[in-house]
Amino acid sequence: MNRIITFGTFDVFHVGHLRILQRAKALGDYLVVGVSTDALNFSKKNKYPVYSQEERREIIENIRFVDKVFYEHSLEEKRKYLLEYQADILVMGDDWKGKFDEFSDICRVVYLPRTPSISTTEVIEKIRK
Ligand code: CTP
Repeated sequence: MNRIITFGTFDVFHVGHLRILQRAKALGDYLVVGVSTDALNFSKKNKYPVYSQEERREIIENIRFVDKVFYEHSLEEKRKYLLEYQADILVMGDDWKGKFDEFSDICRVVYLPRTPSISTTEVIEKIRK
């Protein structure tokens, strides 16, 4: 069995999020998703996501092809999460290209192209206007 892991905030869930999860799952059999906590987002961006971590987690948990969801509390604990969830493949969007190559000693690291022309930031901007 091939276990896939990916991470993200998945705030204001959109089709780009859906597609990366779908394409990640297609690489194996079991998809684990780390949803970043509100505190982690605040510490990195100085603002909280629009949806709470409980809401973001609930959405991801109810996607048909997602098998397991956990909270990512710290960006510095990737290796621990990869080992804990026995990941065979780490999938990230190619906005992260090269950033996770250090983990290729314990799993395959795959960067998938982002869906063009959509992001949480853009959706929020569009609504604001
Ligand atoms: N993603 C994607 N295509 C998009 C947007 C996001 O494939 N158009 C992927 C990212 O590469 C990442 C995952 O979805 O692997 C979660 O991304 P996240 O940062 O939560 O979403 P963004 O829409 O990129 O949010 P923001 O605008 O706040 O950066």
